[in-house]
Amino acid sequence: ELGTYPHYMIKEINEQPQVMRKIIKEYQDEHGELKIDKNIITQLNEADRLYVIAAGTSYHAGLIGKEYFEKWAGVPTEVHVASEFVYNTPLLSEKPLFIFISQSGETADSRAVLVDIKEKGYKSLTITNVPGSTLSREADETLILHAGPEIAVASTKAYVAQIAVLAITAAVTARELNKVSDMNLMSELAKVTTAITTVIEDAPKIEEIVTGYLETARNSFFIGRAMDYYVGLEGALKLKEISYIQAEGFAGGELKHGTIALIEEGTPVFALSTQEKVDLNIRSNAQEVKARGANVCVVAMEGLEQQGDTYVIPKVDDMLTPLVSVVVYQLISYYAALHRGNDVDKPRNLAKSVTVE
Ligand code: F6R
Repeated sequence: ELGTYPHYMIKEINEQPQVMRKIIKEYQDEHGELKIDKNIITQLNEADRLYVIAAGTSYHAGLIGKEYFEKWAGVPTEVHVASEFVYNTPLLSEKPLFIFISQSGETADSRAVLVDIKEKGYKSLTITNVPGSTLSREADETLILHAGPEIAVASTKAYVAQIAVLAITAAVTARELNKVSDMNLMSELAKVTTAITTVIEDAPKIEEIVTGYLETARNSFFIGRAMDYYVGLEGALKLKEISYIQAEGFAGGELKHGTIALIEEGTPVFALSTQEKVDLNIRSNAQEVKARGANVCVVAMEGLEQQGDTYVIPKVDDMLTPLVSVVVYQLISYYAALHRGNDVDKPRNLAKSVTVE
């Protein structure tokens, strides 16, 4: 199954363009229009608020999905960590729709919420990679990720698939609610696919980033603003789970409210800038930590790049940049783990699906 790849993780990172193409194909009708099952769209259109429930990487995908549902479809959306929801239950709206995002469809924390909300009579939709999984069987509706089996414990292609499927679902919801869109999502997703391929081809360059920033690091920070903040959370999770380097994802503006105290000479800080509206802000945050000795690696999108940036990702639509920027972080994590001689596919203390609460 591994073919010529040394690990499942790098195989799955490399499969991402293929996964994007598969999703584009599966979610379009014979006229090339975006397509989502009618029952699902009806539920989405009837809901007055969406509650996204997920854990780990899937939770991070949910944060990006919220942007799509709110900005494109105008539907208020909350994203919750599954294990907290049962205890820190928010006040629910009158007509909530629960969306469970789970690669495996088996995560016990998410299932506990599903059982609970079903008892209360609420509607549910599961977005999963595994047809027939528990969360799929028990929810009212299912959307499939079409990412193919994900074997490596660290989730990569499922995250990208989750974001793509969330984008398509939100775009169809928007269309059905007669919200006008100024972008053709299908063609923008095709551009994203090409951009992901470019990043993957740059793997040797990204491996050098690891040599320059993480070889001896014990801790690290991932900063960003707006969508880039959410991608930083995912970058940090990926790095810690397989390289065992302590990593924290941070909203650029929050750093100065405490965490900046941890910056020392040589502390690696990854700063992501793909959003024009916050480019200057994140660059000034990067400057603040640099002035305190941080070893700052700026990853910027084409068009926003400046001299001295470490890596530039190809330009894609503003709302879709997470699909491309995350690949840089996936590769950084992969090489960091590899350089430390860790078991990349089976990191210590972790299992692929977490079936205990
Ligand atoms: C991280 C990772 C985990 C999972 C989480 C939820 O790389 O894989 O954080 O994302 O355990 O799993 P699923 O999506 O199967 O519910």
